[in-house]
Amino acid sequence: MSHYDTIGLKYNAVKSTPWGRLELFNFKKHIQPFLSRPQTNVLDLGCGTGFYTELLAEWGATTVTAVDISTAMLAGANARLRNSRYASMVEFVQGDGLKPTVYGPKPQSYDLIAGVWFLNYAKDYKELVSMFLTIRKNLKQGGVFVGVCMHPVEDVCNFIAHHNSKVWAMTGLEDIYQDRLPDDAGFMFKAVFHPPKAVKFGHTIEFEAYHLKKSFIATFRIVFEVD
Ligand SMILES: C[S@@+](CC[C@H](N)C(=O)[O-])C[C@H]1O[C@@H](n2cnc3c(N)ncnc32)[C@H](O)[C@@H]1O
Repeated sequence: MSHYDTIGLKYNAVKSTPWGRLELFNFKKHIQPFLSRPQTNVLDLGCGTGFYTELLAEWGATTVTAVDISTAMLAGANARLRNSRYASMVEFVQGDGLKPTVYGPKPQSYDLIAGVWFLNYAKDYKELVSMFLTIRKNLKQGGVFVGVCMHPVEDVCNFIAHHNSKVWAMTGLEDIYQDRLPDDAGFMFKAVFHPPKAVKFGHTIEFEAYHLKKSFIATFRIVFEVD
């Protein structure tokens, strides 16, 4: 069972915070150019409740395969897309990005892979390699991966102190860093969202993730075999 199974549809309120809106602006800006090609099959890793799955379809994807480990998050995604005009373009699959799996009809079927808050579920080198192998198994030669993850910094504690105390604190997100990872690789942290009170689901939403230090990621190398 994933800790997201206790979150499910409540997660949607995260996107209504000012922080969520900034994320949307940045993600759209960077991924939309790749969706203007005539045939773009997209894999959405860690799709959650399908917030970006739906938008990827709206922004021009031909098909979207949406993968998540959590039953409740996938149920939320299904509920969002079931009655939408994009329902026939989207397929949902329960899967673990840490277990490299082919999601398309054959290996390397996807032109574009999105991973919004996906890579931050790798807590060490081995898991990061597994996630990139998942991407490698599914991405076409010349395809593009667009990810959203924690900012690569060395002094993670200083970064987060600033994040929580300055203008970022007004965006509705507080990150609590308490548990150091083995080998001083970074932190397991708790993300606490404070959606505006006016929002229907106006309560705090919490989940955990990992923030690996920049020097740790810099040592990260994968040599991919060409299939
Ligand atoms: C912060 S949410 C982001 C959801 C979505 N991408 C979005 O931005 O709305 C992270 C999602 O990653 C999923 N996840 C975590 N670890 C995973 C794994 N190993 N394989 C697949 N999904 C995973 C969680 O279940 C959760 O739905």
